[in-house]
Amino acid sequence: MGFLDGKVGVVTGAAQGLGTAYARALASEGADVAICDIQPEVSAVADEIAATSGRTVRAYPCDVSDAEAIRGFVDGVLRDFGGVDVVVMNAAIYGSSPLDLSREEALSEYQRFYDTNVKSVYLLERAFAPSLVEREGDIVVISTDHVLPPLQPGGTRGGPGSDLYDSSKWVLNGYIQAWALGFASQGQNVRVNGIGMGATDTPMLRGVFPGDGPSDEIVAGWMTPAQQAQLLLDLLQDGRTGDLISSEPGHPVELPPRSDYGQPVSNLPIEQFHHGLMGLEPAIWEPPS
Ligand SMILES: NC(=O)c1ccc[n+]([C@@H]2O[C@H](COP(=O)([O-])OP(=O)(O)OC[C@H]3O[C@@H](n4cnc5c(N)ncnc54)[C@H](O)[C@@H]3O)[C@@H](O)[C@H]2O)c1
Repeated sequence: MGFLDGKVGVVTGAAQGLGTAYARALASEGADVAICDIQPEVSAVADEIAATSGRTVRAYPCDVSDAEAIRGFVDGVLRDFGGVDVVVMNAAIYGSSPLDLSREEALSEYQRFYDTNVKSVYLLERAFAPSLVEREGDIVVISTDHVLPPLQPGGTRGGPGSDLYDSSKWVLNGYIQAWALGFASQGQNVRVNGIGMGATDTPMLRGVFPGDGPSDEIVAGWMTPAQQAQLLLDLLQDGRTGDLISSEPGHPVELPPRSDYGQPVSNLPIEQFHHGLMGLEPAIWEPPS
């Protein structure tokens, strides 16, 4: 039926937006899918995807900023599905963090952004890693174009008020690189990549335009969740690891070319393991002598 027949996918933050599109795409290629969200609507999303795809799709209410809730989610997925092959770390919060917050508010905002966008990704990777190693799976971390290199020399990226969001996504670059290299150096064929995307039409982005919302002209310049979901499917069939894929409005939504680092890493001598994180020239990583 599809290239994910017999596989199990996990998508966090799938009650709406990109998460729903990712879950639908995995199921359309034959995967059974576990989805979670802090919003109870995630159950209806699971039912709808199960009905249209014919796959098993289960919803788990879960606040990913809560370590105990993540433990319950992971235990439930491994119990119900027996293992995982694809983990899409999608759940996140966006917002600006004004400079005039009180000390207490600033601390609380820091905790909220980093628990949701950073700690959750770390805990999920640690919890699912044994199964991913056994089944030679994929981790895909959903990031933002705010952390890609500037479009022109001397340019900048990111938003002036979104220090917590932007910095939380920068942390994910460290995860992607360290995990890709870590699995590869152990001869484990777990691929780890990120997608650094720009404006895509979801409730999160529409929420940036209060009142009447974005104009049709603005929305016409955005990418769609369906395009991003196809990019995810293409990435899962590609075999590369350690990359941060750029997906920018105004450009074709497609995988950028890869070099020989894209082979399954277990087939590569470690001294030839390349990575292209952040669009830099592929570097050659050599283990310490
Ligand atoms: N839409 C864009 O233009 C855009 C651009 C760059 C990056 N992204 C990234 O894409 C991903 C998805 O974004 P989206 O646009 O679909 O956002 P969205 O807000 O529409 O959806 C995010 C989902 O995550 C869930 N979520 C939030 N906090 C959670 C928590 N603590 N526990 C469990 N679930 C939680 C929300 O309930 C929601 O269903 C995010 O990582 C975001 O940073 C989006």
